[in-house]
Amino acid sequence: MKIVLVGNGGREHAIAWRLRRSPAVTSVVCPNGNPGIARVADVPRVDLKSMEDWASFAAREKAALVVVGPEAPLAEGLADACAAKGLKVFGPSKAAARLEASKAFAKDVMQAAGIPTARSDSFQDYDKALDFARGLGLPVVVKADGLAAGKGVAICTTEEELLQALAENLKDARFGESSRSVLVEEFLVGEEASILAFCDGANVYPMIPSQDHKRALDGDAGPNTGGMGTYAPAPVVTEEILAAAFGTVLRPAVDEMARRGTPYVGVLYAGLMIDGGGVKVLEFNCRFGDPETQVVLPLLDGDLGEIMMACCDGSLPGARIGVRPDHAACVVLASGGYPGRYETGKVILGLDDCETDSSVVFHAGTVAGEEGAVLTAGGRVLGLTAWAATLQAAVDEAYRMAEVVTFQDAHFRRDIAHRALGGTTRR
Ligand code: AMP
Ligand code: GLY
Repeated sequence: MKIVLVGNGGREHAIAWRLRRSPAVTSVVCPNGNPGIARVADVPRVDLKSMEDWASFAAREKAALVVVGPEAPLAEGLADACAAKGLKVFGPSKAAARLEASKAFAKDVMQAAGIPTARSDSFQDYDKALDFARGLGLPVVVKADGLAAGKGVAICTTEEELLQALAENLKDARFGESSRSVLVEEFLVGEEASILAFCDGANVYPMIPSQDHKRALDGDAGPNTGGMGTYAPAPVVTEEILAAAFGTVLRPAVDEMARRGTPYVGVLYAGLMIDGGGVKVLEFNCRFGDPETQVVLPLLDGDLGEIMMACCDGSLPGARIGVRPDHAACVVLASGGYPGRYETGKVILGLDDCETDSSVVFHAGTVAGEEGAVLTAGGRVLGLTAWAATLQAAVDEAYRMAEVVTFQDAHFRRDIAHRALGGTTRR
């Protein structure tokens, strides 16, 4: 089958890379894909703006399946536009994507389904929000209701930060329409982990649990980023925690969406806080995580194309899905200054000499330069990914690649997987 893949970052490179290893897949077309994606897919340069443009493109390509990487097109209704043309889509409808696109909606679903999560309420009124936040006490969390490219969450440890976070959203509309309403939430303690699950509208199949490193600097210091590295499996997710996540989070969420007449198809991403054997949901995302996908897909045992098709056909229980017994690690090479201001257009060196049978460089923010050169083009540039029989070996291999692949002002964390490896900074 032919697949049209929507998206152009590290997550999409990992998806395309894995789909190319799928016997069921004959070709992958990823419009405007980056130079890494170009190694495993056709990347035609096309100007696609509206969801209608994308759906028409996929129809012209006679795609057997459209796979959507990022949340924005899902929230805008790409799956609906494709379905209207009779295309199969791996990704939720606009109505189901609200699980990520509106935090108030996600909380409503969690409440209705009895899913454990932090205490919270939604507000459009500044004074009421402030009252509620003061009632919860510091630290307290303020979240823009809508999509904010990972920047909409403020952990307020002082009254000043609280006033600022509320004003930024409810007075200054920092994230535009996404700031119209805020969620004020109790601060949770514990260790975070992500569980991504395949969903076919009725059935749920969790993939291997992983852990992201959201802060920019070693020791979880510095500002929040889109994710500086990941590893899987995350040992904090024990068998018991996984069972709890399935039984109290994933299963009820998918049941509740079906009950509402908006069945959930695609990847449901549960961001969890784990504390003393209990799980609570921090957030739902309506798609694969980035950079979680980079470590989850190399460990998937099964035919990704077939699994995605089974999700669209409501036949997930018939698909063969397993987990390889290995460990994987991904170290993100970012532009100096990210997540603040950074420069682009730096030549990336060493790309040709670093991959092995058990490692791959996923491209996130790259573009093709002159004469085969690859240039930096974003904050997160590359995901150096390796897998091995032990986590230590996978981490060592990813850091070996970081010694080979480089560009001016490249920045990476040196402590990826530190929680699983004993809490020490590696180098
Ligand atoms: P989110 O975009 O909702 O995942 O939030 C970004 C990050 O903020 C999470 O990965 C957590 O580290 C942190 N966070 C969000 N909500 C809470 C909470 N209620 N308590 C503590 N930390 C939180
Ligand atoms: N790595 C976090 C996310 O994809 O939302």
